[in-house]
Amino acid sequence: MSTHRGVSIIGWGRAMPSKVITNSDLEKMVDTSDEWIRTRTGIRERRVANPEQAASDLAFDAAQAALKKADLSPDRLGLIIVATVTPDMAFPATACLVQDRLGAKGVAAFDLEAGCSGFLYGLSVGHQFVQSATYDYVLIIGVDILSRITNWEDRNTCVLFGDGAAAVILGPGEPEQGILSTYLGSDGGGGKYLYLPAGGSRYPLDHEALDQGLQYTQMNGPEVFKFAVRIMGEAALEVLKRAGLKLEQVTYLIPHQANQRIIDAAAKRLRLPPERVLVNLDRYGNMSSASIPVALAEAADQGQFQPGDILLLVGFGAGLTWGATVIRWG
Ligand code: UT7
Repeated sequence: MSTHRGVSIIGWGRAMPSKVITNSDLEKMVDTSDEWIRTRTGIRERRVANPEQAASDLAFDAAQAALKKADLSPDRLGLIIVATVTPDMAFPATACLVQDRLGAKGVAAFDLEAGCSGFLYGLSVGHQFVQSATYDYVLIIGVDILSRITNWEDRNTCVLFGDGAAAVILGPGEPEQGILSTYLGSDGGGGKYLYLPAGGSRYPLDHEALDQGLQYTQMNGPEVFKFAVRIMGEAALEVLKRAGLKLEQVTYLIPHQANQRIIDAAAKRLRLPPERVLVNLDRYGNMSSASIPVALAEAADQGQFQPGDILLLVGFGAGLTWGATVIRWG
């Protein structure tokens, strides 16, 4: 038995490391140039966590900010979901570490791994629980510390990534407000284009793996690029169809932030002018699960959204996975 009710974002918050690495810093580390990075990716600088900061630390800070915004005490949460590919450790779940630090006594908590689509997967899962009235409030955190799984000697990858976290709280709302539709998908056949080989049950992290650099992200950039451009357009159209909305009704596109050229191609296909597309890639690089919620939280904090605005969130990532959500801001 389930009742159906509206599900709204009632709080949000972010946590960014303070340390900045600019393109010119990278010029001193690998054979690259500010010009190449800016023109091929759109990135100017990125944040990198301090050595003592782990995913749960940023996640905790973002969660606290979101709870404050929602004016909600942690024990009112029903569920905590942490979307990440860089948990503090394989287990226990980073979500459980956050649950403990928040003092959210007895609250259910788990991690969710869907690459850079993780936050949108989390939003979709949380939506189900609130819509069905299983829980009133769900905390969803997108956090990644990609700097820990990046080979800082590999110019193909190290210029792309950054660290960060953001959280939202879902709660019951008006039926025609909040999350209007969601769409998730995957194609595991493309898993080989973006993966971290060692540290799991396939290749335990032994000396041989370390010698080969298998503890670092491996990526076929051009293949991911092609997939991303195609799937961003397809996922956007599908999720809008599910919401019963047309492209012209979209106020803001909030895309996963991997490459400005991917964002531009998607926006062009969706006929959305640049001022309707939220971009933070230039300042933060690709933060995986954190990219979309950081962009959302930043714009919300700046008062950029008006009640009734239609937000179209679209992401893609390792898996390969994709996800999209339509939200009517309320
Ligand atoms: O969240 C999902 C994660 N990943 C993505 O979404 C990545 C999607 N892919 C991309 O964004 C792009 O494919 C990249 C930015 C990774 C690469 O851009 P590209 O235009 O596809 O370049 P490419 O890989 O085809 O490389 C072009 C050239 C190569 O040199 P040669 O072989 O033509 O001589 C690379 O070695 O650019 C070279 N190159 C660089 N040069 C200077 C690659 N990285 C760099 C660099 N600085 N950092």
